[in-house]
Amino acid sequence: METRIVRVAPSKGQLLGRFDSSDGASKLEEWHISPDAGEAITVLRDTAKYLRTSDTPVAFPTETVYGLGADATRSGAVKGIYSAKGRPSDNPLIIHISDLHMLRELLGRQKDDQDAIPSKYNVLIERFWPGPLTILLPNPQPSKLAPEVTAGLETFGARMPSSPLALSLIKLAGVPLAAPSANASTKPSPTAAQHVKDDLDGRIEIILDGGPCQVGVESTVVDGLCEPPVVLRPGGISLEELRSCPGWENVAKAYKDQSEEGKSAPRAPGMKYKHYSPKARVVLYESTYKAGAEGVLASDFDTASATLNGDAEKTNGHSARRIGIIRTQRWKSGAGLQCGPLQPAPINQDNHDEEYLNPAYSVYKGDLKNGQGQVIGELFDIDLGQDAKRIAQGLFSALRELDRRNIDTIFVDGIENELDIAAAVMNRLRKAASEIRS
Ligand code: TXA
Ligand code: MG
Repeated sequence: METRIVRVAPSKGQLLGRFDSSDGASKLEEWHISPDAGEAITVLRDTAKYLRTSDTPVAFPTETVYGLGADATRSGAVKGIYSAKGRPSDNPLIIHISDLHMLRELLGRQKDDQDAIPSKYNVLIERFWPGPLTILLPNPQPSKLAPEVTAGLETFGARMPSSPLALSLIKLAGVPLAAPSANASTKPSPTAAQHVKDDLDGRIEIILDGGPCQVGVESTVVDGLCEPPVVLRPGGISLEELRSCPGWENVAKAYKDQSEEGKSAPRAPGMKYKHYSPKARVVLYESTYKAGAEGVLASDFDTASATLNGDAEKTNGHSARRIGIIRTQRWKSGAGLQCGPLQPAPINQDNHDEEYLNPAYSVYKGDLKNGQGQVIGELFDIDLGQDAKRIAQGLFSALRELDRRNIDTIFVDGIENELDIAAAVMNRLRKAASEIRS
């Protein structure tokens, strides 16, 4: 099947839709499509119709990462997601809704006329929706959701994305969309339409292109049905933000990072699989690892070179050493490796204009040298900057950018802060890493 990237860009000054402007959570009751939003709405309307009838999922942008969406009420459509991604079917999917009305329809009428949405979540919904937060809710029996969505669990995860394009697509489809990240299973999540094409070319027909994602890591998944409430996956909303909400002061961390994984089973089913991995070997330096504060250790560089000398086949057939650096808060340009002057290397993407790509970083490259000053390969250097939000925005894209350049080993400078989005960045990096220096 042919895979098309379809750009959806409302003309300047046009809005795809809006919520009512009244105060409080009730403002999220209904997402209204703007009647005058023109061509973009026509594309979304056609895609929404496709979603209602086809068993092939559609990739669409959200503010976190690109999702691979399907009608959550039809088994055939949901199965299409698992097969396009190559995802294990015991890993449940997040349900995306356009407004609270759609969520209440899903939860069903309560006997005593109580709100079907547990009151514990009101404060989170008011503060963080639409946005990068997924909440667990009881799945009613009988349920409108296809059983494949929940992978046999009694709960389902729901999220109202903030991307107007996503909200409008869901609204026009008229059904909630089940959507995992639109990467091939085990790969880094996609934050641009081209990333989806790189992974799923020939497996889906439509990739809606709304430009690069603003958050860059997936939503935070919380369970407020237990006491104390827990975070099952760190993401776009931080622990600090959650703890500032009444009733959520004692929210606990229920996910384990690789460095602290013990006997206990992971609670979010998705957390037990290999994840976020580029083709290249990733060596992560924790921010607490003092020996790596100045840059890459000589011994790690030697290992990277030795791997290559031993087996050129494993390095995509090329014989020069290709090293990637992802810098954050500590490392200087080149991360302490011997190299020639670094020059800008244009971002490696097809058929897109500048304005639409706008990645959160630039790539530099230069000759990689050995101790005697001989050129032995190429070094690619990506600086994600100091700011944790910006690092999150560029992280997956940077891993993919280095993969497209056939890098053998990527060295990454880790950051630290349990309370902000750095927690999500490190959680993904620890899963992506083949080796961690801590
Ligand atoms: O930002 C996001 O959340 C993106 C965009 C597309 O919205 N979606 C996403 O979906 O990351 P996915 O399928 O890649 O990750 C879903 C996560 C997994 O860790 C899964 O185990 C967990 O949410 N999850 C979903 N439903 C659950 C449930 N009922 N109980 C526990 N964990 C659940
Ligand atoms: Mg995913």
